[in-house]
Amino acid sequence: MAPKSTPQQTASARRFRRRLLAWFGRHARELPWRRTRDPYRILVSEVMLQQTPVSRVVEYYPRFLAAFPSLRRLAGAPPQCVREAWQGLGYYRRATNLQRLAHAVVAEHNGRIPPDLAALRELPGVGRYTAGAVASFAFEQRVPAVDTNVARVLRRAFQPRPASGARGEQRLWEIATALLPRHGAAAWRFNQAIMELGALICTARVARCERCPVVTVCRTGKKREPATVNREREKPARRS
Ligand code: ADE
Repeated sequence: MAPKSTPQQTASARRFRRRLLAWFGRHARELPWRRTRDPYRILVSEVMLQQTPVSRVVEYYPRFLAAFPSLRRLAGAPPQCVREAWQGLGYYRRATNLQRLAHAVVAEHNGRIPPDLAALRELPGVGRYTAGAVASFAFEQRVPAVDTNVARVLRRAFQPRPASGARGEQRLWEIATALLPRHGAAAWRFNQAIMELGALICTARVARCERCPVVTVCRTGKKREPATVNREREKPARRS
């Protein structure tokens, strides 16, 4: 059970969610991994996105998938070919881990990436974030996925305490869970949307509060000069 101070179903949590989802509907980038629910394709995108910007992943992702169109093909490939297909993305250890993961999925899960968080976490190179991202983006489970972008948005919006350390991190996951819409498909959209907000508006370099859809429900945004904030009313959204 989440602690009482978590935003849960409060009016401000609902407004945060509604405004974010309405904004995402208007501003979402068209990205190839948002058009699929194939767990292998989602997993490849998430591993690439761990340390490489979206603009570069968009370039290399189709090439990698053309070379290894399925998890079994990746598992059976010579390691040198996998390394070559990863060229341009850097951090080659990710390619090695991805192939190790493919071997494990073939050996332990009959070639099918498992849907549950615990089994995902057991796979080589899969941490809490990647497990959440695959469970949500491939299997549309109602689970959060807190990467550095999402963590920054939640910290600025809710200013949880403690602000750092393992407890602080745990609080962010609790808040992310509490904000999720009830149904998995809507949670998919919410997770994509909050990542998009962190990538386009609430960036590490600058918080573009004047263009932010959730500025009026954000602790950081509310402290800013009122004349600069976007008070555009959100469109009515479907209930989540
Ligand atoms: N970074 C990590 N996962 C992402 C996703 N699904 N879309 C955009 N950026 C991401």
